[in-house]
Amino acid sequence: MKAAYYIGIMSGTSLDGIDAVLADFEAPRPVLLDNFYLPYPGKLREQLKALHFPAHGELHRAATLGNQLARHYAEAVGGLLRKSGVAPPEVAAIGCHGQTIRHCPQAEAGYTIQLCNSPLLVELTGIRVVSDFRSRDIAAGGQGAPLVPAFHQALFADPHVHRVIVNIGGISNLTDLPRNGSVTGFDCGPGNAMMDEWCARHTGQAYDEEGRWAATGKTLSVLLEKLLALPFFSLPPPKSVSRELFSTTWLEGYLKGDESPADVQATLLELTVAGIARCILGYCGDATEIYVCGGGARNSYLIASLQEALSGRKVGLTDTLGVDADCLEAFAFAWLARQLIQGIPGNIPSVTGAKGPRLLGAIYPA
Ligand SMILES: Nc1ncnc2c1ncn2[C@@H]1O[C@H](COP(=O)(O)OP(=O)(O)O)[C@@H](O)[C@H]1O
Ligand SMILES: [Mg+2]
Repeated sequence: MKAAYYIGIMSGTSLDGIDAVLADFEAPRPVLLDNFYLPYPGKLREQLKALHFPAHGELHRAATLGNQLARHYAEAVGGLLRKSGVAPPEVAAIGCHGQTIRHCPQAEAGYTIQLCNSPLLVELTGIRVVSDFRSRDIAAGGQGAPLVPAFHQALFADPHVHRVIVNIGGISNLTDLPRNGSVTGFDCGPGNAMMDEWCARHTGQAYDEEGRWAATGKTLSVLLEKLLALPFFSLPPPKSVSRELFSTTWLEGYLKGDESPADVQATLLELTVAGIARCILGYCGDATEIYVCGGGARNSYLIASLQEALSGRKVGLTDTLGVDADCLEAFAFAWLARQLIQGIPGNIPSVTGAKGPRLLGAIYPA
């Protein structure tokens, strides 16, 4: 049996759960064969959130959560393989991003931590695992992020069209694909995470389905201006931001306390839209096609607002390019695993700031 397929596993800053995909890279173009989503149990989400900040006993908690994550990832792999009727020996490797709990690339001794007990994931699945994709780029002086632009380029670059791929996950980031091929990628600002937190607090729902609640509110323009005054929004790219910055704790510093919660939700949605639109208008000037991926692509009110802010340009979802918006990031980590196994660098030094192209990831053999 030929091990021809790759599995990609992504669990991002939204802490919503695990996206797993089955990919085939033997065809002339990468093919997304199947996908499986496994939500995190609420308790795991809270435990992971707590690990974003220093606290007593964190080493033990990180290690045991790494074990728990490996079990959840293995469950997602099992679900994916059953759904697609593929056996483990047919899979060349799993590219597992892991769950980021710290990302400090800029410090003197920069580091990044994506939790997952990879040897345990190998034991549980019988499949070779590639993980820890970001550390090598940081060791070479880079930011260790973003890593998906290389895959966006391989998949979506078009010599005749200037495209931008926008990923709206916990935070939002974009890949600029100009016609001449000089790819850039950077963070734009908040994505879903702050809206999720505010929504959970006031409605008990984990997120605002299709932005329906935000649509009942009105944008508080004074508040929006105050939030947009954060220096990050005026910084030129390349720039990156951590989940911790865009939190309800940051937001509360600007609230008077008498605002209607729905109006605040509407304002947070506009903040996400403004962060993205400013980056595209300011730094991807003549882009004519914008494609959105990540969970935010399913927030139809957010997409409509983005369309309005970028009028004159085509704004759609990556689905229209043939890749399910919910699967693109996991697809990218399947591709990055294959890059390593084939001995091909995975980073774009002009995007991450690394000294040069580097082989990304560590291989845990089956
Ligand atoms: N139907 C929907 N309507 C509105 N928002 C949605 C919908 N589906 C997903 N989302 C948002 O997408 C988030 C998950 O996005 P995802 O791309 O997985 O982010 P991350 O990569 O940070 O994990 C959810 O937390 C939620 O905010
Ligand atoms: Mg997610």
